[in-house]
Amino acid sequence: MKIILQRGRLESFTSEAVVAFHFEGDEKLLRDTEAMNKASGGLISGVIQSGDFQGELYQPSLIYTKGTIPSTRILLMGLGKRSDFHLDKWRGAASKAAQFLRDKGVKEFSLYPYLSGERKISLEDFSQGLIEGIYLGLYRFTEFKTEEMEKIKKVEQVHLVTPDERGISRIQKTVDTAEAISQAVYLARDLVSRPANRKTPSMLAQIAKEVAENTGLRCEVLNVDEMKKLGMGALLAVASGSREPPKFIILEYKPPSNSLGRVVVIGKAITFDSGGLSLKPSENMDKMKHDMGGGAAAIGILRAASQLKLPFQLIALIPATENLPSGSAYRPGDILTSLSGKTIEVISTDAEGRLILADALAYSQRFKPKAIIDLATLTGACIIALGENVTGMMGNDDELKARVRRAADRTGEKVWELPLWEEYGEQIKSEVADIKNVGGRPAGTITGGAFLKKFVGEYPWVHLDIAGPVWADKDKPYIPKGATGVGVRLVVQLLREWKVSS
Ligand code: BES
Ligand code: ZN
Ligand code: ZN
Repeated sequence: MKIILQRGRLESFTSEAVVAFHFEGDEKLLRDTEAMNKASGGLISGVIQSGDFQGELYQPSLIYTKGTIPSTRILLMGLGKRSDFHLDKWRGAASKAAQFLRDKGVKEFSLYPYLSGERKISLEDFSQGLIEGIYLGLYRFTEFKTEEMEKIKKVEQVHLVTPDERGISRIQKTVDTAEAISQAVYLARDLVSRPANRKTPSMLAQIAKEVAENTGLRCEVLNVDEMKKLGMGALLAVASGSREPPKFIILEYKPPSNSLGRVVVIGKAITFDSGGLSLKPSENMDKMKHDMGGGAAAIGILRAASQLKLPFQLIALIPATENLPSGSAYRPGDILTSLSGKTIEVISTDAEGRLILADALAYSQRFKPKAIIDLATLTGACIIALGENVTGMMGNDDELKARVRRAADRTGEKVWELPLWEEYGEQIKSEVADIKNVGGRPAGTITGGAFLKKFVGEYPWVHLDIAGPVWADKDKPYIPKGATGVGVRLVVQLLREWKVSS
């Protein structure tokens, strides 16, 4: 899909469709909507007066213009009540409009990238939100479809129209930013959507290398021998049940000019989590291909960072392995020596994420980072606690957590903090080793966080449990059912804002 910036006015623009917006309960039409209404001889006010359209949130109404204006259709899109409006609803409205027109077979449409007269949201935020909404809403995973491809409808062009040159030059950079971020989300979604037989740790490492080549990142992949030499006993144990060798993927981005510091992003990449010998029930086990959503997000984040030329040195650490049962698999009761030197008693081989993250966290210490951010589909308990839409946050640094919260507010990715009080550490004390990998049923997400904390050292760290939002079971306004790419926009936003304030 191509986004084209153009000068003009929609009422005189020739397009398959133009989009006009309306707030529920507004007596008057928005200025730009009124201009289209007037030019078309009152087609829009006619639809509203008929009672067919009230402007309810995401309510569409398609109007055929019959030659009154150059474009064939006007899509009227409801924004809901003015008092409830915010940026995330704007993303949703853009997505819903794009999806509606796509499903009608429209290949090209035009719209203003902002709402006339809405001063609470800046022009840049409006246009970024709109472009992201359109891209993210139109996402589809079709990699393995070989039949009926011709039935899959696609939007080819979107014209962002602004009346003056100044608007165009202000938006140009935003278009590039929004496209880079959306493509990074697409990459993460594609990786998560892909089945485990098409994204083994070796394949994932290969993909990371390709991304690195295309975007100027450094990529290093540690193989089993190197892991043994380093002493990554926890990661190797998890990998021991599979014939697929584990990979420890390292991606590095260096800013073109002065770096504001080093940030490590760690992403859990269990390419398939069967639970190992602590085998999961077979119902829904297929979903466990998404257990690499943290790693996928980390790859997306690095890709976006390099395209946006963020002023931080970024290091992504992505421990990648399958978690399978076999005669060589690690067992409940085993004691592992992790890279940090700490010993870990394995209570459940299904609590494998924290094991591979323990080694990645220990590895991160060598970079003396300004911040460590880990993203992991760590616990089913997080879905029980916060629901499917919400990321659980824990960490050791109030300022970093506040940055995550602010970024979450802006991107609409919901994040909620859970406490990491010291007492939770009691639950993961082991009789026979330094620590055990399961702390019982109470506060299952928090004891996961408490486990990770033991491997963090003194650096500012935040843990994001994305078990819920990594996958959408139903369509959301700009997140089609399936892989969501959660975490990419959040961390990119955090880093972009950090740049501004430091
Ligand atoms: N990958 C799972 C967590 C998960 C579950 C993510 C459902 C998304 C949806 C993780 O490795 C796991 O199995 N965790 C266990 C931990 C338990 C054994 C302490 C869990 O959540 O049951
Ligand atoms: Zn597991
Ligand atoms: Zn897992």
